[in-house]
Amino acid sequence: MKRKMIFVIAIVSLVAFSGLVTACQGQALAGPSSPVINDVPVKGEVIWAGGYQRDIQPIFDQYCVACHNSEKAANGLRLDTYQGAIKGTQYGRVVIPGEPGGSTLLRILYLTPDPQVHMPNGDIKISKNRIENISLWIQAGAPNN
Ligand code: HEC
Repeated sequence: MKRKMIFVIAIVSLVAFSGLVTACQGQALAGPSSPVINDVPVKGEVIWAGGYQRDIQPIFDQYCVACHNSEKAANGLRLDTYQGAIKGTQYGRVVIPGEPGGSTLLRILYLTPDPQVHMPNGDIKISKNRIENISLWIQAGAPNN
Protein backbone atom coordinates (compact mmCIF):
# COMPACT_ATOMS: atom_id res chain seq x y z
CA MET A 1 0.00 0.00 0.00
CA LYS A 2 2.70 2.44 1.02
CA ARG A 3 4.72 1.52 -2.05
CA LYS A 4 1.76 2.22 -4.27
CA MET A 5 1.40 5.70 -2.73
CA ILE A 6 5.05 6.51 -3.36
CA PHE A 7 4.67 5.33 -6.93
CA VAL A 8 1.62 7.54 -7.48
CA ILE A 9 3.38 10.56 -5.95
CA ALA A 10 6.40 9.93 -8.15
CA ILE A 11 4.25 9.81 -11.30
CA VAL A 12 2.28 12.91 -10.32
CA SER A 13 5.41 14.96 -9.62
CA LEU A 14 7.01 13.77 -12.85
CA VAL A 15 4.00 14.90 -14.85
CA ALA A 16 3.89 18.21 -12.97
CA PHE A 17 7.62 18.78 -13.57
CA SER A 18 7.48 18.08 -17.29
CA GLY A 19 4.49 20.39 -17.53
CA LEU A 20 6.53 23.11 -15.87
CA VAL A 21 9.45 22.57 -18.24
CA THR A 22 7.15 22.74 -21.27
CA ALA A 23 5.58 25.91 -19.92
CA CYS A 24 9.01 27.50 -19.47
CA GLN A 25 10.04 26.55 -22.98
CA GLY A 26 6.85 28.10 -24.28
CA GLN A 27 7.73 31.26 -22.38
CA ALA A 28 11.21 31.35 -23.88
CA LEU A 29 9.84 30.91 -27.38
CA ALA A 30 7.32 33.68 -26.89
CA GLY A 31 9.94 36.00 -25.33
CA PRO A 32 11.32 39.15 -26.93
CA SER A 33 14.19 37.24 -28.51
CA SER A 34 11.85 35.17 -30.64
CA PRO A 35 12.17 35.82 -34.37
CA VAL A 36 10.04 38.66 -35.68
CA ILE A 37 8.69 39.29 -39.16
CA ASN A 38 11.47 40.19 -41.59
CA ASP A 39 13.92 38.01 -39.67
CA VAL A 40 14.03 35.58 -42.55
CA PRO A 41 15.51 32.23 -41.60
CA VAL A 42 18.56 31.49 -43.67
CA LYS A 43 19.42 28.01 -42.39
CA GLY A 44 21.38 26.24 -45.06
CA GLU A 45 20.35 28.66 -47.77
CA VAL A 46 22.99 29.99 -50.11
CA ILE A 47 20.80 31.93 -52.46
CA TRP A 48 19.39 35.27 -51.41
CA ALA A 49 15.65 34.90 -51.76
CA GLY A 50 14.67 37.96 -49.79
CA GLY A 51 14.06 41.53 -50.78
CA TYR A 52 15.86 44.68 -49.69
CA GLN A 53 12.70 46.60 -48.86
CA ARG A 54 11.12 43.67 -47.07
CA ASP A 55 14.08 42.22 -45.19
CA ILE A 56 17.04 44.59 -45.03
CA GLN A 57 15.63 48.10 -44.68
CA PRO A 58 13.60 47.03 -41.60
CA ILE A 59 16.85 45.91 -39.92
CA PHE A 60 18.44 49.30 -40.63
CA ASP A 61 15.26 51.04 -39.47
CA GLN A 62 15.29 49.16 -36.19
CA TYR A 63 19.00 49.27 -35.37
CA CYS A 64 20.73 51.98 -37.36
CA VAL A 65 18.48 54.81 -38.52
CA ALA A 66 18.48 56.53 -35.13
CA CYS A 67 22.04 57.71 -35.88
CA HIS A 68 22.16 57.37 -39.65
CA ASN A 69 19.33 59.48 -41.05
CA SER A 70 18.82 62.69 -43.02
CA GLU A 71 19.34 64.97 -40.01
CA LYS A 72 21.87 62.98 -38.09
CA ALA A 73 24.14 61.01 -40.36
CA ALA A 74 27.14 59.69 -38.45
CA ASN A 75 30.13 59.75 -40.82
CA GLY A 76 27.77 61.05 -43.50
CA LEU A 77 26.18 57.63 -43.68
CA ARG A 78 22.42 57.38 -44.15
CA LEU A 79 20.72 54.06 -43.70
CA ASP A 80 17.14 55.26 -43.98
CA THR A 81 17.15 54.70 -47.73
CA TYR A 82 18.67 52.18 -50.12
CA GLN A 83 20.51 55.01 -51.89
CA GLY A 84 22.11 56.06 -48.61
CA ALA A 85 23.35 52.57 -47.82
CA ILE A 86 24.87 52.23 -51.28
CA LYS A 87 26.41 55.71 -51.26
CA GLY A 88 28.24 55.04 -47.98
CA THR A 89 30.08 57.49 -45.72
CA GLN A 90 31.96 60.67 -46.55
CA TYR A 91 35.01 58.44 -46.87
CA GLY A 92 33.50 56.04 -49.34
CA ARG A 93 31.39 52.96 -49.84
CA VAL A 94 30.56 50.64 -46.98
CA VAL A 95 28.65 48.16 -49.12
CA ILE A 96 30.58 46.56 -51.97
CA PRO A 97 28.03 44.60 -54.01
CA GLY A 98 29.04 40.96 -54.28
CA GLU A 99 31.73 41.29 -51.62
CA PRO A 100 30.43 40.77 -48.10
CA GLY A 101 33.99 40.32 -46.81
CA GLY A 102 35.02 43.70 -48.17
CA SER A 103 31.93 45.55 -46.98
CA THR A 104 32.60 47.69 -43.91
CA LEU A 105 28.91 47.80 -43.08
CA LEU A 106 28.86 44.05 -42.59
CA ARG A 107 32.28 43.68 -40.99
CA ILE A 108 31.52 46.35 -38.46
CA LEU A 109 28.55 44.30 -37.24
CA TYR A 110 30.59 41.43 -35.94
CA LEU A 111 34.27 42.06 -36.23
CA THR A 112 34.51 44.86 -33.70
CA PRO A 113 33.82 43.86 -30.12
CA ASP A 114 34.64 47.34 -28.76
CA PRO A 115 31.25 48.84 -27.81
CA GLN A 116 32.55 52.30 -28.77
CA VAL A 117 33.15 51.19 -32.34
CA HIS A 118 30.69 48.37 -32.66
CA MET A 119 27.51 49.09 -34.65
CA PRO A 120 24.95 49.70 -33.43
CA ASN A 121 26.73 51.62 -30.66
CA GLY A 122 26.44 50.29 -27.14
CA ASP A 123 25.16 46.96 -26.01
CA ILE A 124 22.49 46.35 -28.62
CA LYS A 125 23.18 43.15 -30.47
CA ILE A 126 21.79 42.15 -33.81
CA SER A 127 20.86 38.50 -34.21
CA LYS A 128 23.20 36.31 -36.26
CA ASN A 129 20.31 35.60 -38.54
CA ARG A 130 19.83 39.27 -39.40
CA ILE A 131 23.57 39.71 -39.97
CA GLU A 132 23.51 36.65 -42.21
CA ASN A 133 20.63 38.17 -44.17
CA ILE A 134 22.63 41.36 -44.74
CA SER A 135 25.56 39.21 -45.87
CA LEU A 136 23.40 37.27 -48.35
CA TRP A 137 21.96 40.52 -49.68
CA ILE A 138 25.44 41.95 -50.32
CA GLN A 139 26.62 38.69 -51.83
CA ALA A 140 23.68 38.76 -54.23
CA GLY A 141 24.93 42.13 -55.49
CA ALA A 142 23.07 44.31 -52.98
CA PRO A 143 19.98 44.70 -55.19
CA ASN A 144 17.21 47.18 -54.50
CA ASN A 145 14.37 44.71 -54.67
C1 HEC B 1 23.88 55.23 -31.44
C2 HEC B 1 24.25 55.74 -32.71
C3 HEC B 1 24.52 54.76 -33.82
C4 HEC B 1 23.77 53.68 -34.21
C5 HEC B 1 22.49 53.17 -33.62
C6 HEC B 1 24.45 53.13 -35.36
N1 HEC B 1 25.57 53.85 -35.65
FE1 HEC B 1 26.85 53.52 -37.19
N2 HEC B 1 27.97 55.10 -36.61
C7 HEC B 1 27.73 55.89 -35.50
C8 HEC B 1 28.82 56.82 -35.34
C9 HEC B 1 28.93 57.85 -34.23
C10 HEC B 1 29.74 56.57 -36.37
C11 HEC B 1 31.07 57.23 -36.62
C12 HEC B 1 32.05 56.39 -35.83
C13 HEC B 1 33.43 56.87 -35.90
O1 HEC B 1 33.74 57.79 -36.63
O2 HEC B 1 34.24 56.27 -35.18
C14 HEC B 1 29.17 55.48 -37.16
C15 HEC B 1 29.76 54.94 -38.29
C16 HEC B 1 29.27 53.88 -39.02
C17 HEC B 1 29.90 53.33 -40.19
C18 HEC B 1 31.16 53.81 -40.86
C19 HEC B 1 32.34 53.12 -40.28
C20 HEC B 1 33.59 53.53 -41.01
O3 HEC B 1 34.59 52.86 -40.79
O4 HEC B 1 33.55 54.50 -41.76
C21 HEC B 1 29.10 52.28 -40.60
C22 HEC B 1 29.34 51.37 -41.79
C23 HEC B 1 28.01 52.20 -39.67
N3 HEC B 1 28.12 53.19 -38.73
C24 HEC B 1 27.01 51.28 -39.78
C25 HEC B 1 25.98 51.16 -38.87
C26 HEC B 1 24.99 50.13 -38.94
C27 HEC B 1 24.91 49.07 -40.03
C28 HEC B 1 24.15 50.34 -37.89
C29 HEC B 1 22.98 49.51 -37.50
C30 HEC B 1 23.17 48.11 -37.41
C31 HEC B 1 24.63 51.49 -37.16
N4 HEC B 1 25.73 51.96 -37.78
C32 HEC B 1 24.02 52.01 -36.03
C33 HEC B 1 26.63 55.84 -34.67
C34 HEC B 1 25.65 54.86 -34.74
